[in-house]
Amino acid sequence: MKVNRLGFRDYRNLKENELIPGPQVNVICGDNAQGKTNLLEAVWLFTGGRSFRGARDQELIAFSSRAGAVLALDFEAEEREQTAKITIGRGAKKRAAQLNGVDQPAASSLIGKFCAVVFSPDHLSLVKEGPSMRRKFLDAALCQRKPAYARLLSQYSRTLAQRNTLLKDISYHSELLETLEIWDEKLSGLGAAIIIERKRYLERLSEAAGEIYDGISQGRERFAVRYDSGLLRDGGEEAGYRERLFSLLQNGRKEDLNAGFTTKGPHRDDLLVTVQEKSAREYGSQGQQRSCVLALKLAEAALLAEALGEKPVILLDDVMSELDASRQDYLLNKIQGWQVFITCCDPNSISGLSQGRTFYVENGEIRG
Ligand SMILES: Nc1ncnc2c1ncn2[C@@H]1O[C@H](COP(=O)(O)OP(=O)(O)OP(=O)(O)O)[C@@H](O)[C@H]1O
Ligand SMILES: [Mg+2]
Repeated sequence: MKVNRLGFRDYRNLKENELIPGPQVNVICGDNAQGKTNLLEAVWLFTGGRSFRGARDQELIAFSSRAGAVLALDFEAEEREQTAKITIGRGAKKRAAQLNGVDQPAASSLIGKFCAVVFSPDHLSLVKEGPSMRRKFLDAALCQRKPAYARLLSQYSRTLAQRNTLLKDISYHSELLETLEIWDEKLSGLGAAIIIERKRYLERLSEAAGEIYDGISQGRERFAVRYDSGLLRDGGEEAGYRERLFSLLQNGRKEDLNAGFTTKGPHRDDLLVTVQEKSAREYGSQGQQRSCVLALKLAEAALLAEALGEKPVILLDDVMSELDASRQDYLLNKIQGWQVFITCCDPNSISGLSQGRTFYVENGEIRG
């Protein structure tokens, strides 16, 4: 997948213009607050998702614009040239999308047509913070690959919410206790299926990310990631997960009734990211933590490429800081065969760029 042209009008602080990137590395350089992240965010919107900065659509429209923002993308996917257009209107007019000149029922209809993987400094929370970000990362990666997983996940969430409601109701109506078993059964079936999918995906992700980390650290450090679930702690066959989750739920009943929610299951699981067999969250340096997230993101892209049969575009926002020269060199010169967009503030950090294009952004104006 490749971006051939990005056009924009009234998008954030970007002055009406277009960006014609090269097929490999594209470095977007500029001081703080000039519009670098805005550019990556504009490309990202064509994946059909929300802004990776969590911004609301109205925030994307230039302050000075009455009409709204317009973005246009010429890209290559499925071995042909395609076009997409996104408009974001003011007020009730929501985001609308066109693909190859045809109006789409929703902006999310672009999902799967244009694919990208993004790294932004916010993603460092993947290593630095609590487990919920890591579960989100894992679930989002699995949903992009497998629509069936998205359905499984929403069934699980619904069932979990119903069981939690019941746990609270039981304190007022003790006769409801006997209905709990039905939910335990349902939840353990869905939960076991989720755990199996996550575990299998992570085994492959760990291998791919391990190789990438090896490249980033020039073979100096060993990286691994594994699924950390109460259920898996003492091994066992996949075929037995359902039953074990069921007994975990049954044995945890008292605790669940006291808490008023379900304390065990995949919604509480985590990923353990390690460098040199030590937890990256607890012992990793800034550069190591950044390298871990990068390796995870680039591995996500590699597995997505396998599933799609073509490589997604890689967007790297502000990755260079905190990385030493050899790690920066890996990002600039060793990611071959992918179209990459990298933003940076310091032109010195791209002095080692051997091929690719550099763009400069100043106050929303882009120079190639
Ligand atoms: N809706 C909007 N209309 C006009 N300007 C906006 C809008 N939203 C954000 N901006 C401006 O865009 C600029 C920020 O752009 P961006 O986040 O792309 O900066 P950056 O170049 O990535 O900077 P940094 O290096 O600090 O990350 C800010 O000056 C901000 O005020
Ligand atoms: Mg930025």
